[in-house]
Amino acid sequence: KDAAAAAAGPTCPHAASRARSLDALPGPTNWPLVGSLVELIRKGGLTRQHEALVDYHKKFGKMFRMKLGSFESVHVGSPCLLEALYRKEGSYPQRLEIKPWKAYRDLRDEAYGLLILEGKDWQRVRSAFQHKLMKPTEVVKLDRKINQVLTDFVARIGKINENGRINDLYFELNKWSFETICLVLYDKRFGLLQDHVNEEAMNFITAVKTMMSTFGMMMVTPVEFHKSLNTKMWKDHTAAWDRIFSTAKVYIDKKLKSNEPGAPDDLIGDIFRQSRLSKKELYAAITELQIGGVETTANSMLWAIFNLSRNPGAQGKLLEEIRRVVPAGQDPCGEHLKSMPYLKACLKESIRLSPSVPFTSRTMDKDIVLGDYAIPKGTVLMINSHALSSNEEYFEEANLFKPERWLRENNTINPFAYVPFGIGKRMCIGRRLAELQLHLAMCWLVRDYEIVATDDEPLDVIHSGLLSPNRELPVAFLRR
Ligand code: HEM
Repeated sequence: KDAAAAAAGPTCPHAASRARSLDALPGPTNWPLVGSLVELIRKGGLTRQHEALVDYHKKFGKMFRMKLGSFESVHVGSPCLLEALYRKEGSYPQRLEIKPWKAYRDLRDEAYGLLILEGKDWQRVRSAFQHKLMKPTEVVKLDRKINQVLTDFVARIGKINENGRINDLYFELNKWSFETICLVLYDKRFGLLQDHVNEEAMNFITAVKTMMSTFGMMMVTPVEFHKSLNTKMWKDHTAAWDRIFSTAKVYIDKKLKSNEPGAPDDLIGDIFRQSRLSKKELYAAITELQIGGVETTANSMLWAIFNLSRNPGAQGKLLEEIRRVVPAGQDPCGEHLKSMPYLKACLKESIRLSPSVPFTSRTMDKDIVLGDYAIPKGTVLMINSHALSSNEEYFEEANLFKPERWLRENNTINPFAYVPFGIGKRMCIGRRLAELQLHLAMCWLVRDYEIVATDDEPLDVIHSGLLSPNRELPVAFLRR
């Protein structure tokens, strides 16, 4: 049961008979020039913005308005408003523009991928990938490749731990998800899980890191300014994209040239043969799938490990399910997952309690009425999945890890209260792949290791693009 598939939901109590103007929306104090930036900084700064936004929802209600500098947005934090938004969605929903990425593509005459495309072009590229990535029976065919990398990952955990502790677990998980997505997309092993990582692989992963760390600032200061002054940030950003594109192109070209008859898990070959995408479009789309898929998956796995370490009872039940379903001597695979409801509940609950992506956005391409308010075309709506999933109104004992809540017959969880992958036509296209990767990784890890908490201090969460722990995860992996 998820938001996209939900049947007609409850009638929205916020539906208005006569819509009010956006000016009537409550929100934090809007000072000239800076808007609410100073207030946000006083509340802990941008790294604590997820907490500030939850507070604002408590204070101002399901919908509030906020300006940061010249950027104004309307924050939406109620399932019924999201459902209404979903039902009013046009054919080509838009997110907030990622201008630095577009500036690079325009400079080098490269195409846009799914993260930045709009309109009919977005729909065309989306349809080319939709079937292969969103249909569970297609995605599950990728389990062999995912398991190939997991074999190495689990062995590496055994090798590099010191009394069960892993130094920089997050980096290890990033290498795992990078290696997996590269094998899925390019049919290429980069060797990131070996003791000595080769230069090409290291340069590739570093380029992605640099590209990600340089675009945030250019989202809040005009990219044209950076480009015209050729700032260090712009130069580093461009050089990073150059490397990402040149590496990706080599492997996509190799794959397409090999011209082998399509194997069941030949994602790219199949899409190229069956769609009318040009090579240039394929380069951009694949590169963005890789960018979208690495850190999000690694971060979700980090949180799953943490939540299992702090909830040994749930971990024990999960182990029981794994032992019951996966025969001794066999490795967990896609087929086994069909009979593992507790595993799926554990991942869902971990993502609810500790989401990686706290919000997504929609830029309205037409005037709509949402709740009590008239939302004009061009308004940016922020869909706050973190505020929703941590709200007691929608999840009893919301701060506890309770996988059982997803298993209760006729559970009353509103599907629009759980939207970590976004909603509607533009929701995450990598969702099924991410879930498959995470389900299998949880099976492999919990089967082979007891994941124990090494302290019981609270773990602070910071917003750094994704929601991450502010210190090394206090966990150890003990061989079973
Ligand atoms: C979009 C979350 C994994 C590729 C999104 C969005 C969210 C999200 C919230 C925005 C959706 C919206 O605006 O409604 C996540 C999380 C992941 C994950 C939490 C892991 C747990 C992946 C993976 C891939 C991927 C593995 C690639 C295979 C993309 C792409 C888009 C997207 C290309 C843009 C889709 C479009 O606009 O058509 N993701 N994602 N994501 N994600 Fe993911």
